[in-house]
Amino acid sequence: MLGIIGAMDEEVAKIKEQMENVQMMQRASMEFFEGSLKGYPVVVVRSGIGKVNAAMCAQILADVYHVDAIINTGIAGSLNAQIDIGDIVLSTDALEHDMDAVTFGYPVGQIPRMDTLSFEADKNLRRLAKEACERVNPDITVFEGRVVSGDQFVSDKTKKDWLVDHFAGYCTEMEGAAIAHTAYLNRIPFLIIRAISDKADDSASVDYPTFEAKAIEHSVKLLLELCTLFPA
Ligand code: ADE
Repeated sequence: MLGIIGAMDEEVAKIKEQMENVQMMQRASMEFFEGSLKGYPVVVVRSGIGKVNAAMCAQILADVYHVDAIINTGIAGSLNAQIDIGDIVLSTDALEHDMDAVTFGYPVGQIPRMDTLSFEADKNLRRLAKEACERVNPDITVFEGRVVSGDQFVSDKTKKDWLVDHFAGYCTEMEGAAIAHTAYLNRIPFLIIRAISDKADDSASVDYPTFEAKAIEHSVKLLLELCTLFPA
């Protein structure tokens, strides 16, 4: 079974519409919709925004549904001039940009006493998602790179430059790395799929509402196609 997490209602609504044989369960104030998507068994859930909500949600998918893989879908701010609004970023890896134990000699972003700076996404999921994206979204570009997450909507050029300089991130959002972190601890393969809604700079607050719907459309189309590529 595949676990699919979106942070916001808008990000999961279109996915839920396509599901069959749906059963709902509530846990930690979240609604988990179990059923099938294009014939593949899935559980779809809106986690709520931010790292704590996202991590809790992923842990419930692990404990209650014993999912074989987790996909986090949604939108993000671009950190790279080449990556335009509407384009897709697939995570190579993810880290928490607001983790800071520099005082103790750790690089910024590294969680103290963990054995990795960033959490690596599953290569097979990445390969399949790229194939699916190129098939259903031929008019946009799909990138593969680092996703940096924090409890912050980035809408300021100075912060954006800082994220690029320190982490060479491709996009920034508020949940992916927390899901990656949880998946890593539970040894569950994961992938973050994010469509770009803004440039994470001073134009972000204006662009975000304008492009949110279009960006979500791209990530949902990709996800539905991806489900058809999984072996039955
Ligand atoms: N999600 C979409 N755009 C974002 C941004 N600029 N910062 C954080 N999360 C986002």
